[in-house]
Amino acid sequence: MFNLEQANATIAEMEAKIYQPVSEPYQGKLYVGVDLGTANIVVTVLDENKRPLAGALQEGRVVKDGLVVDFLGAIQIVRSLITQIEERLGRSLEAAAVAIPPGTLAGDAKAIINVVQAVGLEVNQVVDEPTAAATVLGIQNGAVVDVGGGTTGISILENGKVIYVADEPTGGTHFSLVLAGAYKIDFEEAELKKRDPAQHKDVFPVIVPVIEKVASIIQGHIAQRNVECVYLVGGTVCLEGFEQVVNKFLGMPVRKPYNPLLVTPLGIAMHCG
Ligand SMILES: Nc1ncnc2c1ncn2[C@@H]1O[C@H](COP(=O)(O)OP(=O)(O)OP(=O)(O)O)[C@@H](O)[C@H]1O
Ligand SMILES: [Mg+2]
Repeated sequence: MFNLEQANATIAEMEAKIYQPVSEPYQGKLYVGVDLGTANIVVTVLDENKRPLAGALQEGRVVKDGLVVDFLGAIQIVRSLITQIEERLGRSLEAAAVAIPPGTLAGDAKAIINVVQAVGLEVNQVVDEPTAAATVLGIQNGAVVDVGGGTTGISILENGKVIYVADEPTGGTHFSLVLAGAYKIDFEEAELKKRDPAQHKDVFPVIVPVIEKVASIIQGHIAQRNVECVYLVGGTVCLEGFEQVVNKFLGMPVRKPYNPLLVTPLGIAMHCG
């Protein structure tokens, strides 16, 4: 059942484990998820009751839209994140679930699996990203829209199954490029400006047209399909006011959970076998 408060509480627990990392030694069963994203690599660990136990995140440019573009770099980051968590839990991690964007070719999925296996973990589940997100949100129907670093992924669910997917090349990078152009600053500075709540008043008017672009992409894919609600996830929708712009554009209910960047990573661990 969709229960935003409950999902938000779990995401906030996961966030605390990632950003204020204190973990105790733990002996129970573990559920582990590895998310190899275009912008962020995230490892999430749940306890035997599937509550957040530990997590670690690092930015990286080693994967692009589900394709591993720097195999050794990816292994290095995943190994470092796993090692941090193992030290905190006082034990080694043995198996994990991984996620792939829907429609990923078998060979590309294998490359993602290989990265995780290369750090010594067995991959016991491969889940597609919108299904992972839907598990956290507790939804069976609707459109899950993941605005990540490189792309916007749109997935339509019916009765818990993904029945339609699309991926369009507008993501967080695009937002930063538009900001960089408007303020004549370099990309890295624009990235920081975009994420700084104190600068929201300067940032928001510049990026509204980009949010509307994302909304029009969503509209194009959900038109003629049976969608009653849009669920926004992915780091880019962290932007305050994102959901209101989409809601106004589409004229239908739009839901955004707490810290949408962590929804898919958390959901991957929930699918660990
Ligand atoms: N607070 C924030 N405000 C605005 N944008 C943010 C914020 N935090 C992160 N982002 C943006 O979110 C994007 C990364 O999101 P996410 O971690 O969901 O992507 P990813 O999973 O690595 O990429 P993809 O799913 O496209 O492979 C980056 O473009 C980053 O600039
Ligand atoms: Mg992602």
